[in-house]
Amino acid sequence: MLRTHTCGELRQEHAGQVVRLCGWVQRSRDMGGLTFVDLRDRYGITQLVFNMEGNAPLTLEARKLGREFVVAASGKVAERSNKNPKMPTGDVEILVDSFEILNESKIPPFTIEDNTDGGEELRMKYRYLDLRRNVNKKNLELRHRMAIETRNYMNDQGFIEIETPVLIKSTPEGARDFVVPSRMNAGQFYALPQSPQTFKQLLMVAGFDRYFQLVKCFRDEDLRADRQPEFTQIDCEMSFVTQEDILSTFENLAKHLFRKIKEVDTGDFHRMTYDRAMLEYGSDKPDIRFGMTITELNGVVKGKGFKVFDDAELVAGINASGCSEYSRKQLDELTDWVKRPQVGASGLVSIRFGADGTLKSSVDKFYTPEDLKIIAEKCTAQPGDLILIMAGKKEKTQTALGTLRLEMGKRLGLMDPAVFKPLWVTNFPLLEWDEETKRFYAKHHPFTSPVPEDIPLLDTDPGAVRANAYDLVINGVEIGGGSIRIHNRDLQKKMFSVLGFTDEQAQEQFGFLMNAFEYGAPPHGGIAFGFDRWCTIFGGGESIRDFMAFPKNNSGRDVMIDTPSSISEVQLKELNIKLVNP
Ligand code: AMO
Repeated sequence: MLRTHTCGELRQEHAGQVVRLCGWVQRSRDMGGLTFVDLRDRYGITQLVFNMEGNAPLTLEARKLGREFVVAASGKVAERSNKNPKMPTGDVEILVDSFEILNESKIPPFTIEDNTDGGEELRMKYRYLDLRRNVNKKNLELRHRMAIETRNYMNDQGFIEIETPVLIKSTPEGARDFVVPSRMNAGQFYALPQSPQTFKQLLMVAGFDRYFQLVKCFRDEDLRADRQPEFTQIDCEMSFVTQEDILSTFENLAKHLFRKIKEVDTGDFHRMTYDRAMLEYGSDKPDIRFGMTITELNGVVKGKGFKVFDDAELVAGINASGCSEYSRKQLDELTDWVKRPQVGASGLVSIRFGADGTLKSSVDKFYTPEDLKIIAEKCTAQPGDLILIMAGKKEKTQTALGTLRLEMGKRLGLMDPAVFKPLWVTNFPLLEWDEETKRFYAKHHPFTSPVPEDIPLLDTDPGAVRANAYDLVINGVEIGGGSIRIHNRDLQKKMFSVLGFTDEQAQEQFGFLMNAFEYGAPPHGGIAFGFDRWCTIFGGGESIRDFMAFPKNNSGRDVMIDTPSSISEVQLKELNIKLVNP
């Protein structure tokens, strides 16, 4: 080994020992007689000292060390007279008697510090330098520990990790596929898996009864802070289980991770049906760290001559505690905020419940103080509160209020990142109607089983069929989702037909699965967790990018290796591909 210790290891008890450290020059300070160099590696920073009186030529050499030079330095560990309590190695320094430059470095394009001066694009271009920064290093270490603990737990529970192929046929999960042309099968394409969904089901047919995999998935969709075109799932499937078995098995995985990684005991997870989540939180992934739930107001506001409310399918509001002193300007700003296309509300009505008990609304013309009192009671508002009301189509109003609720929660500091409130959302609808294409889509995916008593509704009222599906939500983030699957050929066929597939199309695309169902498919179900999202939430981060070693930017580009990129004429020809717009 070129080194005897790491840069994070030495303490006072090592004083007097001769050591050799290797690392990168974090910074150097020339203090006249003494030159200090902070040497950094993955484990920490140790101070090297060069003394002009003791060894002038060596000190003069050390003064030439630039930032990020790779150095091996030998010397004696000494107790520092001027200790640095902020550093674990801050009690000691190395009195260097020889050093070697292992490699030089150009001046890095940004500072390798937690608070760097480098913008995102620049840091991504030089991601290998960005990853030298402590914050990123910590994130990847957390990710590693999450993976190890996941594997430990799953292994202890008798799950086996099986790899599934990456070159597959498309699985419809709602996003677009990334496709890969086949040289040996001209004009034909593989698709990269959006998830190993069908394979894990086939593994159940094969009898593997408890499968899991930390697996890369690929989706060609618009990117956001919590979405990447390639991401990792903890993908799981079990045979001979009910929904309850799955929820308890994976609640225990989550509790294990909470304990091991966050040292938090969350207690049993909350549960909520999809309908209640939409009604009270305006979201299928409610953040339940705070209340401010939505109150339906149809019964108390209609019939008073205010057309906006009278004509609306839903009038509902939230109560922002302690906000009655919001100024006119603040309310106008909030109204503009909800009218933005991202929120999509048509307007915002407010009722101030003054600290003196008086009620004042932006629609006083239509509502007497007595009416306002009834509304305030319904919203359980107290003096000092502010009620914010929206009206319109049911789902749109619910979602807009849900978005406003989150915004108010953020503004009022109610979303403490150190608090974790995990929640199961259950009883999702099986299908979603799309007005544009005038057809049903699977809310989860087409392999999800309907709640057994709702199966007859597939013929009469498909929109009302509930799914045997569930999501795990932590602090308003959808961490995972799964379902009990269809394992019967006829029901699967029926499902495809409700989704508008002809028998031929279903056979062509999913014949392999339906055929497998004819050879003793066990009842089964499973779940997949967004591993990157889970790491991000545990790491207190904003974007899943920060928890991936080499992520893509918002346009799906890797700016470091500069891809996607064009390929040569020869390659195109070999693949039998002709570009329309070369
Ligand atoms: P689903 O599509 O809900 O289910 O995905 C499971 C979880 O994966 C995460 N996720 C993502 N993370 C980062 N970037 C993305 N683009 C992205 N898309 C999804 C989310 C999500 O909850 N086969 C089913 C699972 C099953 O039924 O067992 C599936 O993939 O956290």
